[in-house]
Amino acid sequence: MTSPRIISLFCSCMLLSHDITTLSLALALEDCEFPAIFNFGDSNSDTGGLSSSLYQAPPPYGETYFHKPAGRFSDGRLIIDFLAKSLGHPYLSAYLDSLGTNFSCGANFATAASTIRLPDPIIPAGGFSPFYLNIQYMQFMQLKSRSQHIRHRGGIFASLMPKEEYFSKALYTFDIGQNDLGEGFFDNQTIQEVNASVPDIMSKFSTNIKKIYDLGARSFWIHNTGPIGCLPYVLATYPSAQKDEVGCAKSYNEVAQHFNHKLREAIVQLRKDLPLATFTYVDVYSVKYSLYKDPKRYGFELPLVACCGYGGKYNFNSSAECGGTVAVNGSQIFVGSCKRPSARVNWDGIHYTEAAAKFVFDKISTGAFSDPPFPLKQACHRNLD
Ligand SMILES: *[C@@H]1O[C@H](CO)[C@@H](O)[C@H](O)[C@H]1NC(C)=O
Ligand SMILES: *[C@@H]1O[C@H](CO)[C@@H](O)[C@H](O)[C@H]1NC(C)=O
Ligand SMILES: *[C@@H]1O[C@H](CO)[C@@H](O)[C@H](O)[C@H]1NC(C)=O
Ligand SMILES: *[C@@H]1O[C@H](CO)[C@@H](O)[C@H](O)[C@H]1NC(C)=O
Ligand SMILES: *[C@@H]1O[C@H](CO)[C@@H](O)[C@H](O)[C@H]1NC(C)=O
Repeated sequence: MTSPRIISLFCSCMLLSHDITTLSLALALEDCEFPAIFNFGDSNSDTGGLSSSLYQAPPPYGETYFHKPAGRFSDGRLIIDFLAKSLGHPYLSAYLDSLGTNFSCGANFATAASTIRLPDPIIPAGGFSPFYLNIQYMQFMQLKSRSQHIRHRGGIFASLMPKEEYFSKALYTFDIGQNDLGEGFFDNQTIQEVNASVPDIMSKFSTNIKKIYDLGARSFWIHNTGPIGCLPYVLATYPSAQKDEVGCAKSYNEVAQHFNHKLREAIVQLRKDLPLATFTYVDVYSVKYSLYKDPKRYGFELPLVACCGYGGKYNFNSSAECGGTVAVNGSQIFVGSCKRPSARVNWDGIHYTEAAAKFVFDKISTGAFSDPPFPLKQACHRNLD
């Protein structure tokens, strides 16, 4: 028999019946297997795609963890790296990396500067990756069929390919959309115009999710977009933008919030259209925003200022970017890292530091920022209500 004292203790911890349901549901669920991870996205989760195919991130990228550039637009690891490790997997190989890659536990189709919609103009004519979401889907389709031919053929490459059954059991992760908003802003569209493009962006997103589902994907883990108006590259480019109470560009963040609102709606619809799949919506925006709101509480400082950059209030200038050089008083100066990247939120004006990525991963992996609110390891389960 359970003692009355334990019962009353237990009850005093409970706030709402909704929480009780969620808690007991989560306790009742088993951890998922997730033998592989397939990731789609932009620089927030690029583990080497753009660097191996087009433009290598130079030093001091990678200095904190890898001690050399490692294909990531950060001083160290990204959220996807912490995610892969926590599921017991090695860091994901970039699909585009033709040298020394191992896809036995999944593949990463993300490239920095990727968008959901067809971008214009693409590298080298402009700033966007040619590997936008449709192409990432096409690459996934290729990997899925060709990897099985290679496995059947045997030999040294067979063991580097995912097993066939992994495609239905894998976790499919997404972090993409920030550059669709950025493309609009930097193309001199008005805030309202960029905001009005969100439904079209979202419809292209859902189309790709359905195509990936049709190839067998069942567990989807989808990050919403972060507070773009808190990034130095926006703040330095639009110095007269109205600021919120923490110094972020208010209307730019409102567009990101609208994007997230529509993403949530799109996911509700996807759950209806694809009842065999599980969709976890992950509120990365709120976790990132807490770093701007309460940096000291979490051990950070100067969240609006780039660690690796040069000049101005935000230590960001697009003509003197991290890893480049800048002419000062007639001599060339290397644009390098700040002293304590481990206490900084922003790495290079656009991307987050490893310390920030770890903070975000630790928060989102618990399920506290997810809908449904299951931890990462249980993201194969459908909400029961
Ligand atoms: C590929 O990765 C798997 C999973 O980590 C590992 O067991 C295997 O040894 C790796 N293969 C090679 C050739 O490194
Ligand atoms: C945006 O407007 C600024 C200022 O008018 C101009 O310098 C810049 O070239 C424009 N950018 C684009 C992509 O049209
Ligand atoms: C974006 O559009 C939505 C829906 O029309 C609207 O509710 C919201 O206020 C708009 N946001 C901005 C920043 O224009
Ligand atoms: C950015 O750097 C360039 C080159 O050093 C300089 O000419 C320009 O004034 C800087 N822009 C800002 C906004 O500080
Ligand atoms: C550049 O020269 C000016 C004027 O002599 C001086 O005030 C400034 O400190 C110098 N900047 C650097 C980075 O040496």
